[in-house]
Amino acid sequence: MGWLAVTFYTAALILLFLPLHASQDRLVPGKPLSPGATIVSDDGSFALGFFNLSNLSGTPNRLYLGIWYNDIPELTVVWVANRETPATVGLSSAPSLFLTNTSNLVLSDGDNSSVLWTTGVDTSTSSSQTTAVLLSTGNLVIQSPNGTMLWQSFNHMTDTFLPGMKIRIKYGASTNGDRLVSWKGPEDPSSGPFSYGGDPNTLLQIFLWNGTRPVARTATWTGYMVKSERRYQQDTTGAAIIVYLSVVDGDEEIYVTYTVSDDAPHTRYVVTYSGDYHLQSWSNSSSVWLVLAKWPSPECNRYGYCGPYGYCDVAVQTCKCLDGFDPASMEEWNQGRFSAGCRRKEPLHGCVDGFLPLQGMKTPDGFVLVGGDKGTLEECASECGRNCSCMAYAYANLGGDKSGGNVSRCLVWTGELVDTAKIGEELGSDTLYLRLAGLDMAAGNRRKMSAVKIVLLVLGCGVLVLICISLAWLKFKGKDGKWRRHKKMRLDGVSTMNDLGEEKLPYDHEFPFVRLEEIVLATQNFSEIYMIGQGGFGKVYKGKLAGQEVAIKRLSRDSQQGTKEFMNEVILIAKLQHKNLVRLLGCCGEGDEKLLIYEYLPNKSLDATLFDDSRRVLLDWATRLCIIKGVARGLMYLHEDSRLTIIHRDLKAGNILLDGNMRAKIADFGMARIFGDNQQNANTQRVVGTYGYMAPEYAMEGVFSTKSDVYSFGVLLLEIVTGIRRSSSSETKGFPSLIVYSWSMWNEGKTEDLVDSSIMDTCSPEEALLCIHVGLLCVQENPNDRPLMSAVVFVLENGSTTLAAPNRPAYFARHNIELEQLRDDIQNSINGITLTDIQGR
Ligand SMILES: *[C@@H]1O[C@H](CO)[C@@H](O)[C@H](O)[C@H]1NC(C)=O
Ligand SMILES: *[C@@H]1O[C@H](CO)[C@@H](O)[C@H](O)[C@H]1NC(C)=O
Ligand SMILES: *[C@@H]1O[C@H](CO)[C@@H](O)[C@H](O)[C@H]1NC(C)=O
Ligand SMILES: *[C@@H]1O[C@H](CO)[C@@H](O)[C@H](O)[C@H]1NC(C)=O
Ligand SMILES: *[C@@H]1O[C@H](CO)[C@@H](O)[C@H](O)[C@H]1NC(C)=O
Ligand SMILES: *[C@@H]1O[C@H](CO)[C@@H](O)[C@H](O)[C@H]1NC(C)=O
Ligand SMILES: *[C@@H]1O[C@H](CO)[C@@H](O)[C@H](O)[C@H]1NC(C)=O
Ligand SMILES: *[C@@H]1O[C@H](CO)[C@@H](O)[C@H](O)[C@H]1NC(C)=O
Ligand SMILES: *[C@@H]1O[C@H](CO)[C@@H](O)[C@H](O)[C@H]1NC(C)=O
Repeated sequence: MGWLAVTFYTAALILLFLPLHASQDRLVPGKPLSPGATIVSDDGSFALGFFNLSNLSGTPNRLYLGIWYNDIPELTVVWVANRETPATVGLSSAPSLFLTNTSNLVLSDGDNSSVLWTTGVDTSTSSSQTTAVLLSTGNLVIQSPNGTMLWQSFNHMTDTFLPGMKIRIKYGASTNGDRLVSWKGPEDPSSGPFSYGGDPNTLLQIFLWNGTRPVARTATWTGYMVKSERRYQQDTTGAAIIVYLSVVDGDEEIYVTYTVSDDAPHTRYVVTYSGDYHLQSWSNSSSVWLVLAKWPSPECNRYGYCGPYGYCDVAVQTCKCLDGFDPASMEEWNQGRFSAGCRRKEPLHGCVDGFLPLQGMKTPDGFVLVGGDKGTLEECASECGRNCSCMAYAYANLGGDKSGGNVSRCLVWTGELVDTAKIGEELGSDTLYLRLAGLDMAAGNRRKMSAVKIVLLVLGCGVLVLICISLAWLKFKGKDGKWRRHKKMRLDGVSTMNDLGEEKLPYDHEFPFVRLEEIVLATQNFSEIYMIGQGGFGKVYKGKLAGQEVAIKRLSRDSQQGTKEFMNEVILIAKLQHKNLVRLLGCCGEGDEKLLIYEYLPNKSLDATLFDDSRRVLLDWATRLCIIKGVARGLMYLHEDSRLTIIHRDLKAGNILLDGNMRAKIADFGMARIFGDNQQNANTQRVVGTYGYMAPEYAMEGVFSTKSDVYSFGVLLLEIVTGIRRSSSSETKGFPSLIVYSWSMWNEGKTEDLVDSSIMDTCSPEEALLCIHVGLLCVQENPNDRPLMSAVVFVLENGSTTLAAPNRPAYFARHNIELEQLRDDIQNSINGITLTDIQGR
């Protein structure tokens, strides 16, 4: 042990001194840097030197001094000193960079006649001990002999935001913070029109600008010490890249900074010359920069895209009108032109109108900061309430300041509300209190104030007490009634009342509850004529509600939930909105009846299309790939992006519906929650699902997790590519199942033969192979070996050259259990089992 330690110590010493000898990471006075030479950071990751970008013969070569990644093949410049003043290469002379003995860095052109760029540092005392060091973070730092940092390139950023760098929103006396400024073009590092940085007017938000026009805006700060951690996945093989972003309110400065996980590849934010803000990471395996995140995204998040009083619903990526507002021009709105925005349905009466809280919002731009920084929510509410031109307010407690008191902010809006979004629980999510006609001055401080009055009255005059209290009570009830009137539900224009009587339902102003009698009417008392399907959870009817065609699912009665829990679950599930999920439009729970109302999709299920000889032609390769990707995205949303982590548990071709454009939408999600099993990765008494799609650990042991959905997805994917049913032994050349067949073919290197012969001519062999590969990874026996849906989506979108080889898939034949026997076993051992579609359809 001792010997080892000594060896290690010696090695450490050598390593420690090595860079000093090699000393290529710094510039000292008297030793200028010329074109062709570079200074390389200690760990070899960055280089400082001259570069040129112009390829065109004939144009004079322009030379720039800059910093780039030294250990990747593609020249990626992260900093440019003289972006506006390139050096031209003369015949006899070349520019040089030198450090003066007063600690100034100077870039001068060939004959020393002009200074192209300088740091402007000038210490009064001169010394030859000063150095300019390129650190392994990519920061070029001038250090005085006593170690003080005199200048750093990180404070003079160009278009790139590197880990460890700070974008200062505010510092010192300066009101202008730092800005990232784009290049003009791919070969022109001079300042382009796009920039990114703090909003100098409010210091509370960050903008991406095109010139002076905002392109996108972050949510307004809800706290000065914001820390967030986000995971990004390059591909299935690499570890996740975790970006730790924080906003720091320091003594002298407010800034945004970030770091990345230790083993992450090169990662950077950059404002591209085309006007996007990207998070990129270098993929070592494919030698390209991958875009991990892009802003503004979604499209409707562009600044002001949804017009005044409109907002971008990020979950469904579309514009909507704020509550109490309608599109200004329905025609334009329906054509996808939102810039005209929305207008009030009912004009304000002035100061008597109250406020509706909208949760999970990115609050609008154009606010005014009012009150001190020590106010309460009630004070903020009254600040806005008493000013009749105040439309809305938002309040946030920003946390403790240095003296221990809480700092808060109160924002009010008096003009148009622009650039609002609904972002759910994203960073910066806030409650916007919106003034609406017909709402009484709401709850909160008014009630509290009248309570104070009541107390005073009690003290003054005991007799009045009872009267006062009963008056207050009546008033309260009245308000409540009025409030409730505003909960009128809408199903595409026609109102349906929420009149579940005394039962207090969670407040939700958008989700419609439909009365049973309306549904009975629409389906002629659930007549067989209107039935369009039947699944494990109940029968599905087609009907017309409020002029709109809908699919109505009548849940079977073995749900253990009471009506209230059912409604709660449905509201939660209705919030899951994604373009690859069938939209839940409403519900009804009366007595024993539990009904769900979905959008109606005309093109039937994937099952009824893929395995039908006359309809199969609708599915060429491009459509199939699009369906695969759509299902993957929808499932990823359920697993990873929604707040609830929904495990579908019955993903199958019959549960994929196709819309008018043959796009895939997942149906029947959230059923497990509605039926009362909402633990994750738990043992369940009920096995719901469909034989052949069920992961073995789920079918055999009742253990389910998101990975059991991944398994079902894998089976589905193989079905789509091969056009073969999962359990059709006639088509799988005698193999017991599609999975076993696919794996065998893969093993024999005959994967191409798996592809459905009817799409041979439209199919891209690489894409099909990639899909099959992903499918086989998804059906591996060990759930831990199966990829996450985010990884699946990534690979399907970007392709990958580094996918692992799939392990032996799980298949029941190995256990020598015959189909029927398996079913009996499960039925005998597990209570209340509902295996649907045992034989397949
Ligand atoms: C500039 O670029 C050209 C072509 O890419 C190259 O031949 C030349 O050496 C470069 N000049 C300098 C000074 O790097
Ligand atoms: C130079 O030209 C080649 C081919 O014309 C192109 O592939 C390369 O990207 C260009 N280099 C730069 C820096 O634009
Ligand atoms: C330019 O001036 C600097 C200092 O003033 C000196 O170190 C350098 O050698 C000069 N270069 C030429 C080409 O004269
Ligand atoms: C610093 O440089 C100037 C000229 O560049 C020279 O005159 C002076 O002697 C130098 N001082 C020291 C301390 O090296
Ligand atoms: C270090 O040197 C710089 C100038 O070279 C000077 O301004 C600073 O006061 C010095 N700091 C200390 C702690 O000596
Ligand atoms: C940036 O603004 C200019 C006009 O100011 C416009 O022509 C251009 O299309 C804008 N670019 C983007 C990407 O918005
Ligand atoms: C990147 O790939 C090269 C060879 O392809 C290898 O030498 C290097 O170690 C890899 N770097 C990382 C960080 O994986
Ligand atoms: C209402 O608020 C606006 C904006 O803060 C302000 O300009 C106006 O003077 C206020 N009006 C009253 C009556 O306080
Ligand atoms: C600051 O706010 C927190 C949470 O809202 C609260 O617990 C704490 O008591 C407050 N501190 C002061 C000094 O008001």
